Amino acid sequence: MRNRNLYILTAVVVLLSLALSACSQSSNQTVRIATDATWPPFEYVDEDSKEIIGFDIDLINAIAADQGIEIEIVPVEWDALLAGVSQCQYDAAISAITITAERAETMLFSDPYINAGQIVAITADNTAIQGPADLAGMVVGAQIGTTGAIEIENIDGAELKTYDTVDLAYLDLINGQIDAVVADYPTAVSFVGQSNGQLITVGEVFTDESYGVAVCNENAELLDQINAGLNAVMSEGLIPELEAEWLAVSE
Ligand code: ARG
Repeated sequence: MRNRNLYILTAVVVLLSLALSACSQSSNQTVRIATDATWPPFEYVDEDSKEIIGFDIDLINAIAADQGIEIEIVPVEWDALLAGVSQCQYDAAISAITITAERAETMLFSDPYINAGQIVAITADNTAIQGPADLAGMVVGAQIGTTGAIEIENIDGAELKTYDTVDLAYLDLINGQIDAVVADYPTAVSFVGQSNGQLITVGEVFTDESYGVAVCNENAELLDQINAGLNAVMSEGLIPELEAEWLAVSE
C-alpha cells in the first residue's frame, strides 16, 4: 500500500514538472504584449465574454499571425504600462499609444497605424464650452499620463484632474464634478455614445497624433517583425476593415 502511494505520488510529481516545463518553454517564445483594456474601441473588456477585445487586439493578432509569432495579451494599468515597456518588463505594448518624441527616447515605436487627436467632451446642457479655447478656469479630466492630460496642462488656466481610467473621468463629468474631459476622439465618441445623450463632443479634434505599437528598446528584431507584419496587413486593407468594424460608432 505504501509503495503504491509512493508510486502515485512520484507519477504526479513527474507529470506536474513536465507540465510546468512545457509552460515555461512556451512562455519563453511567447511575446508578451501589454495593454490597458479601458480604452474602447481600441482595447476594452467585453461585458459578456469578459475577454479583452477591440481594434488594437484584432490588429496585433493579425500582425502576429502574419509573422508566425505567438503572443500573449497582458493587461496592465496605463500608468504602469509605458514605464513597463521602457524597462522591458513587456516585450511590447498595443494600447492606443500616441507616438511622441519624448516616449521614443525610452522605447521603440512601430510605423503609425492610425490617426487620433484630442477632443473635448462636456455635458449636453453646457453652453459655456465650445472647444479647447473655453477651458480656462475649468476643471478638466483626463486619464493620467495620456496625451490628453498633457494637452490640458498646456492650456493656460485650465485645471487638470487625472484619473486612473478615463471611464471615471466621464462618470465625474456626468455627475457634475468636473467641467470637461479631453481624450482621443474615437474613445470620446465611444463614451459619448454610451451616455444616453448626457454627453456631447464639442469643437474640432485639436491635435494631430498617430498610434504605434511600442516595443522594448532591446528588441529591435521584434520591432522589425511587427513592422513587417503591420505593412503586410495594411497592404491587405486591414485598417479600413477594422475602422468599419470598431470605429463606426454613432454618437
Ligand atoms: N493616445 C493617448 C496616449 O497615448 C491615450 C492612450 C490611452 N490608452 C489606453 N489604453 N488607456 O497618451
